[in-house]
Amino acid sequence: MQGRASPMVGAVLALALAAGTGAALCWWLLEPRKRQTGGTVRQGVLDLIGNTPLVRVASLSEETGCEIWVKAEMLNPGGSVKDRVALQIVSEALADGRLRPGGLITEGTAGSTGVSLAMVAAAYGCRCSITMPDDAAIEKANMIQAYGASVRRVRPVSIVHPEHPVNVARREAASTPGALFADQFENEANFRAHLKTGEEIWQQTQGRVHAFVSGAGTGGTVAGVSTALKARNPRVRVFLVDPPGSSLFNKVKRGVMYTSEEAEGKRLKNPFDTITEGIGINRLTANFNRALIDDAFRGTDREAVEMAAYLLRNEGLWVGSSAAMNCVGAVKAARAMGPGHTIVTLLCDGGHRHLSKFHSKEYLESMDLAPRETDRSLAFVS
Ligand SMILES: Cc1ncc(COP(=O)(O)O)c(C=O)c1O
Repeated sequence: MQGRASPMVGAVLALALAAGTGAALCWWLLEPRKRQTGGTVRQGVLDLIGNTPLVRVASLSEETGCEIWVKAEMLNPGGSVKDRVALQIVSEALADGRLRPGGLITEGTAGSTGVSLAMVAAAYGCRCSITMPDDAAIEKANMIQAYGASVRRVRPVSIVHPEHPVNVARREAASTPGALFADQFENEANFRAHLKTGEEIWQQTQGRVHAFVSGAGTGGTVAGVSTALKARNPRVRVFLVDPPGSSLFNKVKRGVMYTSEEAEGKRLKNPFDTITEGIGINRLTANFNRALIDDAFRGTDREAVEMAAYLLRNEGLWVGSSAAMNCVGAVKAARAMGPGHTIVTLLCDGGHRHLSKFHSKEYLESMDLAPRETDRSLAFVS
């Protein structure tokens, strides 16, 4: 018996060896990038989106007695948190056939989503057309064009006006065969993108997060992150920080969409209300409706400007207006909760794309908003 088994065992071993060598050869041939780099090379620009670092802000943490940690969303390849949303919207539409390679993507946006969609469209071989208000920083329009998309700049008008950017973009898609209206306000792919942002925060804090703070434009960020964090731990507190002219503060506090600057639900925030971009709104969106918010703070333009200058002065962190407002909210949350808590917020974008407005000395002086503070105290946050 033993004498007959030996050749069979030998054959099986030889076969296994051959199969193993074959598999190894296949891996060697098919995975050259991993072989060359130890597996760290990313698959194109889309693979750079998300998994942003979480950064401790020493000055804010020391001044408040809380740990204030910020997610550096400006490190996404398109420069903002909106890369996550653009990728989710476009990849879902490509997967279910609403969009095909070469097809047109349209959107109405204050700009950041436009930059991100233009980048994602280019990476997927699609075309992109963005309509934005002409009071948004010109840098964003220039970047969208640099990515090869077209830009239409329109007067900032109410959402009920046919020339509102969102309405223009919706019509453009409807009249172009095979086109996708990205619809970041109502498309819940936006919310789904931020479930991952929330999960990243949970993992990066190893579950030691007491509160999350965010402004809201579409509401996708606060909705996705709050849902993900509260699913992990329902005791995580979620705070909204709302700029002047937005109705969301009253929606959270009193259940009504109302802002003293304007009649209920009639028009979007406009340049007379706030100089911040991307946050604040006067209508309820599908994405915001999903947010699980415990409480809200108001933030002023003065606080946002001073915070941006503070972060530059004390940290070398150069952030945009919504990121600065988020940090104002984080300080307010720290004071409301008391020392010893870990509070997370997002740096939605960097200062580079705000050079002509939020980071322009001349512009701020013309609005009587030039930063005045020079020290490390946070007395400017009310
Ligand atoms: C720069 C920037 N920050 C913050 C936001 C607000 O995020 P969300 O739309 O997820 O509420 C936006 C939205 O457009 C934005 O462009």
